[in-house]
Amino acid sequence: ITGPSGVSGGAETAAVPGGPENSAASAIPTIRWDEPPEGPVLVLLDQTRLPGEETELVCTDAPALVQAIRTLAVRGAPVLGIAGAYGVALAAARGFDVDEAAEALAAARPTAVNLAYGVRRAQAAYRGAVAGGAGQRDAASAALAAARALHQEDAEASARMAVHGLALLDELLPGGGHRVLTHCNTGALVSGGEGTAFAVALTAHRAGRLRRLWVDETRPLLQGARLTAYEAARNGMPYTLLTDNAAGSLFAAGEVDAVLIGADRIAADGSVANKVGSYPLAVLARYHHVPFVVVAPVTTVDPETPDGASIEVEQRASHEVTEVTAPFVPVAGAGVEAGGGIPVAPLGTQAYNPAFDVTPPELVTAIVTEEGVVSPVTAEALAELCARSRQV
Ligand code: MRU
Repeated sequence: ITGPSGVSGGAETAAVPGGPENSAASAIPTIRWDEPPEGPVLVLLDQTRLPGEETELVCTDAPALVQAIRTLAVRGAPVLGIAGAYGVALAAARGFDVDEAAEALAAARPTAVNLAYGVRRAQAAYRGAVAGGAGQRDAASAALAAARALHQEDAEASARMAVHGLALLDELLPGGGHRVLTHCNTGALVSGGEGTAFAVALTAHRAGRLRRLWVDETRPLLQGARLTAYEAARNGMPYTLLTDNAAGSLFAAGEVDAVLIGADRIAADGSVANKVGSYPLAVLARYHHVPFVVVAPVTTVDPETPDGASIEVEQRASHEVTEVTAPFVPVAGAGVEAGGGIPVAPLGTQAYNPAFDVTPPELVTAIVTEEGVVSPVTAEALAELCARSRQV
């Protein structure tokens, strides 16, 4: 990608301003657009450094953002959409080739449909403005307005999902005192608001109805241990971390009332792609007669993907499994392997490392969206939900 002379590319890092204050229950600065004198930038909270460091990653062009997406500095379906839209706006505002940037951004990760949705929405706004005779500056403003609108809509969707989700929990579990198991990270770090599944648990906590949040560590990249535990601690929630393998015995002991997870893509038939390890939880939940609830904005439902088999599941590098890094920050003096970590498997070991798995609709008790709850999960009910959402 080329730009006008004088535009610097890449990403820079900086400590989050007022870092210590951010450890209070204030909003997490997941993503923001900024316009310093040197030119517009997209500022991300670098999720690879959490929970040890709250560090900002400043992206000045789309390739830097693509790299941030691939390395999971920014991750989670809804915020990937927001980031993708801002990435297009950034390319436009900096005078880069917008279509080229859009293609690179949309292809940065394949599974979360929100990423391509956000990119295409900002790209369409830019193209529409150009087609309407707007100059470069006004077309860039149109792309930025689209990104900002998506950011705001996602915050509103998060709040509405939380209300619908808690009402559903109360209906499914009339005794109150919910003990909820969650997987991966679905809070403010993935959202314009407080998240998807995590936002439901947080709302239950604020209402005095969350007895325990069980947090799967989420191998291999530890989104549960590093990120969900970080968010739960900041919010003063009663939480306990477990290895993914410990979930079975927790169900068997009768300690789980409901599973709440997010989604990266929901196919037209209701199949749910989410962080690898979600499907085994759905099987466990069914065996133990525990509700398995998916919380996701309507933008995660993809009518163009007919079924679970059609969902492209991202395969990630072996070294994420064959090495441990202390977490993601290179360890001084450690033997440097492909990922810069300490090998825990014989050198040359190949790993099976899908980032996601797919849960069939018959194992999903309900899908909670900002437009309401789908239960039972059927293609017809999802199509009706999408049609209703398009009319709003
Ligand atoms: O690989 P990640 O960390 O981007 O995976 C994220 C997840 O699987 C989340 O559970 C999903 O995006 C839902 S977030 C609301």
